[in-house]
Amino acid sequence: MLLLRDARESDIPRLMEILEASPEAGRWSETDLRPKPGRHVTVAELDGQTAGFLLAACPIAEEAEILTLAVDPAHRRRGLGRALVETFLHTRQGDVFLEVRPSNLAAQKLYEASGFAPTGTRPRYYRSPDEDALILRCGGPGPRPPAPDPQPASPKSCASSADVLPSAVAEE
Ligand SMILES: CC(C)(COP(=O)(O)OP(=O)(O)OC[C@H]1O[C@@H](n2cnc3c(N)ncnc32)[C@H](O)[C@@H]1OP(=O)(O)O)[C@@H](O)C(=O)NCCC(=O)NCCS
Repeated sequence: MLLLRDARESDIPRLMEILEASPEAGRWSETDLRPKPGRHVTVAELDGQTAGFLLAACPIAEEAEILTLAVDPAHRRRGLGRALVETFLHTRQGDVFLEVRPSNLAAQKLYEASGFAPTGTRPRYYRSPDEDALILRCGGPGPRPPAPDPQPASPKSCASSADVLPSAVAEE
């Protein structure tokens, strides 16, 4: 069974393990994953095991950014990534942005399937290896992808959550 919920402090060691196994997700510290207003981490639990997470920044109600997304390699291609993204989108009313490496085709396919479209590039945004970033956007009034089925428990939205996560800027 898939459960999506807000992250807790006790999740952090497991989230760091998932990050270490997911270099495309960028480098984030334990501090980045700690609760802080305006940030949010949604955890995906599959059959009671923490299997993935989404980290987002929500500075204002009308705009949010997905900072990173990672699924344990042992649990990929089972819909967790898409459920995390689309459930997050359903908590938002305005634009949602993210950056992704042009070489990260798996993530791009997922985001495209979830309703994101390219809106620009950031030259030389990533390091090691150096690469531009594609900026993707999903939002504004209009159709959103249907909620994942079965509908997991929805986490709180960034704007209303006091125990959301962290601050930090990750440089991949
Ligand atoms: C990208 C990532 C989060 C996807 O998680 P996931 O749980 O495996 O994704 P899903 O099972 O929800 O896949 C949804 C869709 O995305 C696309 N997709 C996902 N992984 C893919 C892959 N390896 N190759 C091609 N398409 C892929 C497919 O269209 C897939 O639908 P399908 O399985 O019906 O074909 C995961 O591969 C990951 O953690 N990668 C490393 C970290 C990363 O790249 N994060 C994104 C940073 S911007």
